[in-house]
Amino acid sequence: MELSAAKAIVTGGAAGIGRGIADLLISERASVVVADVDDETGKQTAAEIGARFVHADVTRAEDLRRLFDDAERELGGINVVVNNAGGVEGESYPDAPVERWTAVLELNLHSVMLATQLALERMQAGVVVTIASVAALGDTPHPAPEYAAAKAAVVRLTSALRARDGVRLTCVCPDSTRTPAMERTLASRPPGFDPGPMLEPNEVAAVVADLIRDDSARGRVVVVRAGEPVRVIAG
Ligand SMILES: NC(=O)c1ccc[n+]([C@@H]2O[C@H](COP(=O)([O-])OP(=O)(O)OC[C@H]3O[C@@H](n4cnc5c(N)ncnc54)[C@H](O)[C@@H]3O)[C@@H](O)[C@H]2O)c1
Repeated sequence: MELSAAKAIVTGGAAGIGRGIADLLISERASVVVADVDDETGKQTAAEIGARFVHADVTRAEDLRRLFDDAERELGGINVVVNNAGGVEGESYPDAPVERWTAVLELNLHSVMLATQLALERMQAGVVVTIASVAALGDTPHPAPEYAAAKAAVVRLTSALRARDGVRLTCVCPDSTRTPAMERTLASRPPGFDPGPMLEPNEVAAVVADLIRDDSARGRVVVVRAGEPVRVIAG
């Protein structure tokens, strides 16, 4: 798909990687709805980059339905959905109470499945790009196992479903990226802690743009790390 033909929803688009994606798509003449729970930052970002803003908590099915209705009306249709909203902070499984780790699964897995299902229902043709994480991969310990498990699940959702009726599913697994969430994580580490090489949001956005452009990408999952070539691990 030409990016100039994209009519895109970017969830969690107010800040961080989502903002980077929305910004890059608009610079390529796409039309974009930024969806976020943070109204103040969302409205400001939308005004700065030339997007529309719609309030939506992606964990709420009714918010997602209204988001798709509003975006269809505002953009004259939808052909791209970027499932970007996600993350984890605070106490993790198994120490965290059930409500807390369930909320991580709702944000990082359930919401992606809900939005993808709506995309398949509403879009005639197009692409879904889900932002997973390198946390999904490999066999090393992770401080938030429920987050790693949810991200692994969306990777496999993408490669298992691949495509349906002209709608392609794709997924990006970024390594550490300089975003507000990452700044909060680093603030909780000891002074002098070295997080290692870090991606910028626009580097992740460039990979998302390539997956939107490449009509042969079906069930494709790619890994992006600072200073390394993009690696295709499925599709
Ligand atoms: N930053 C990293 O190092 C990194 C690495 C790998 C993967 N990721 C993934 O990239 C995505 C974006 O991460 P980020 O670092 O930019 O996060 P961030 O916290 O900096 O920004 C996330 C945005 O999503 C919004 N959001 C949070 N919950 C929401 C909800 N329920 N509904 C709608 N919007 C919501 C926030 O308000 C914020 O604007 C996440 O899925 C994250 O898991 C991040």
